[in-house]
Amino acid sequence: MIITIDGPAGSGKSTAARKLAARLGIPYLDTGAMYRVVTLLALEAEVDLGDEPALQRLAESNAYRLDPGPTHIRVTVGDRDVTEEIRSMRVSEHTRFIAASPAVRTVLVRKQRELGVRLGSIVTEGRDQGSVAFPHADVKFFLTADVAHRAERRYHELIAEGEDVTQEEVLRNVQERDQTDTARSVAPLVRPDGAIEIDTSRLSIQQVLEEMLHSLHDAGLVNADQLNDDHSAANAGRIGD
Ligand code: C5P
Repeated sequence: MIITIDGPAGSGKSTAARKLAARLGIPYLDTGAMYRVVTLLALEAEVDLGDEPALQRLAESNAYRLDPGPTHIRVTVGDRDVTEEIRSMRVSEHTRFIAASPAVRTVLVRKQRELGVRLGSIVTEGRDQGSVAFPHADVKFFLTADVAHRAERRYHELIAEGEDVTQEEVLRNVQERDQTDTARSVAPLVRPDGAIEIDTSRLSIQQVLEEMLHSLHDAGLVNADQLNDDHSAANAGRIGD
């Protein structure tokens, strides 16, 4: 079973994907983490962010590893755990250049499909999961929220992670990312065909999760027991990116 969740920065995709995957007991794939780790590698190796062949080599390399699990994804570079580091403002500010690279996108989409085949069932989230990577997914969701709510969520997350940022900086970053994610020529952020849209601006994570589970139930993918099973880590908590 492949479930895709796409949407802009701060729409609640990651939290929703994690909670849904935990509830279903299947891995979740955070494809933003793939673009982020390639960005980190490019910054550390001082690769020109416009050098397509060099970026393609980095994306294809075995220098990084993603281990998707049902509650979180672990990202490593050699022996180094970079799961937190790839969420820093420095990486966030540069990821859009990597995400605009056709060569990197081709490699990462291929890797995402390979993971889908290897894992069999996944909840995968990003910008192009329902539109490009998995157009034949069993169910596709598109999450939205107004920009002020999304920036506020990101700000609280970054502060909780110890980053020294202002609300204005985070709002600017989210707006810039919206602009480049929707305007880029390769795989721009769009609502995928057939996707179920959920506006999360005024919803708690529990409400978002319930809407998704009801859609899966309507599609015949979860039974009534799974719909009502609340023993997982799927309830409560702040909605995140
Ligand atoms: O989801 P997250 O904010 O971690 O993604 C970081 C960046 O990676 C996004 O701003 C976007 O530019 C890019 N991205 C993408 N396609 C995806 C996932 C992320 O272009 N499937």
